[in-house]
Amino acid sequence: MSERVIIFDTTLRDGEQSPGASMNSAEKLRLAGQLERLGVDVIEAGFPAASEGDFEAVSQIAGRLKRCETAGLARAAKADIDRAWQAVRHAARPRLHTFIATSDIHLQYKLRMDREQVLQAAVEAVRYARSLTDNVEFSAEDGSRSDRDFLCRVFEAAIAAGAATVNLPDTVGYAVPDEFGELVHYIRRHTPNIHRAVLSVHCHNDLGLATANTLAAIRAGARQAEVTINGIGERAGNTSLEEVVMALATRATRLGVGTGIHTEFIYPTSRLVSMITGIMVQPNKAIVGANAFAHEAGIHQDGVLKNPMTYEIMKPESIGLSASQLVLGKHSGRHALRTQLKEMGYDLSDEELNLVFTKFKELADKKKQVMNEDLEAIVTEGILRTADVFVLDYLHATAGTTVLPMASVRMKINGRLTQDAGYGNGPIDAAFNTIAKLTGTSSELMRFSISEVTVRLRENGLVALGKGADPDIITASAKAYINGLNRLEYLKTHPLQEAATV
Ligand code: KIV
Ligand code: ZN
Repeated sequence: MSERVIIFDTTLRDGEQSPGASMNSAEKLRLAGQLERLGVDVIEAGFPAASEGDFEAVSQIAGRLKRCETAGLARAAKADIDRAWQAVRHAARPRLHTFIATSDIHLQYKLRMDREQVLQAAVEAVRYARSLTDNVEFSAEDGSRSDRDFLCRVFEAAIAAGAATVNLPDTVGYAVPDEFGELVHYIRRHTPNIHRAVLSVHCHNDLGLATANTLAAIRAGARQAEVTINGIGERAGNTSLEEVVMALATRATRLGVGTGIHTEFIYPTSRLVSMITGIMVQPNKAIVGANAFAHEAGIHQDGVLKNPMTYEIMKPESIGLSASQLVLGKHSGRHALRTQLKEMGYDLSDEELNLVFTKFKELADKKKQVMNEDLEAIVTEGILRTADVFVLDYLHATAGTTVLPMASVRMKINGRLTQDAGYGNGPIDAAFNTIAKLTGTSSELMRFSISEVTVRLRENGLVALGKGADPDIITASAKAYINGLNRLEYLKTHPLQEAATV
């Protein structure tokens, strides 16, 4: 493979802007480690000026990453750039990413600046960032809807001021592939110093075209793709990493450029993002959806059994989806557990493994076979979730056609045991009512999904997702509800300040 596309992952920044996807610092740190293992080149860890929490998380990630570059986002303003630099300066390989909008509609209504002022602001921002590091990226927000010649002028000036990467965002997901590819060609032909920088693209999926647009741009010479795991992100999301990477790998002879991604970590990383954010992957999602490698029609199954290549363009193992899942039971030991967790992408410390092992044994006593989904739930509850205020200690619920549904609940709240009982329309309603009473909370139940036991709660404008798993549906539901309450508690103490322009 002669050429390589730089994979710039923005799951922790643009991905985190998905409604309800906010992650805490510990979760972000774990995900950053997994992204490094996956082999991404750059991790955009956050937008440090947006909030204290974002700053902290970016700073911690910067201190942790060894091989990947750590990028911090900043508006084209000195204060933002200073904040981003404070957060990433101690990284092994820091990058400053500064941006300003270039489309007339953004200039007129959002920035209230004219083109010359924007050009000047871009140059000053890049020059200032460049005084701090030689690894500066400049983005022209809403670039795809900008006047082409003005866009080229801004890129030329940004490169002259020291930008090593210039990024073309399709901020509102408006572009179509031939047009976007043509725009990349245009920029390459009309920006005299473009050969001195890497040309990057950043697409949103409002028309479902983010991957197609990114591939068209790569065909036209872009050499950095900005992506997120599972395509999560603002509104309809961003270009999904797994789609771009697997398209480049599967159609290598046609597309002719590769990436440094270890594709066998794609599936575990996708699961981790889904677990942490609570955003489920749609079953028919390309590459990582539950049905992506499932063959239903008899004629397809027959063909796949004779030769997988009849209907499979990729091997499931190439994305880390092992064909056979090792079933663990109560006789399985620590070594088998560690091996299975590693295969699933969880590289745990000895202390974490001990914790998971204890919970695994408890579950194996109740349930004959412990499946990967059970292990994921144990890891999510025991390791990925930190410092819960509310913990379920005991639950007993009654239901039936002739009894009044009732629940008795004992909980640990801030370390103190407390218990109560209450009624409801059914056992789950009774459990939720009692938990709400015990915790003194008043969230509104916005969603309740039985299959995955996911809840979405809203309290005073704050929205949080909760997930829970247990062989008993009522206990699993109560755990999901409590997890949602814990996430609300976290949001109350870590208010996310709105990023004004992103
Ligand atoms: O979509 C967008 O324009 C962005 C920029 C900040 C790169 O996310
Ligand atoms: Zn974006």
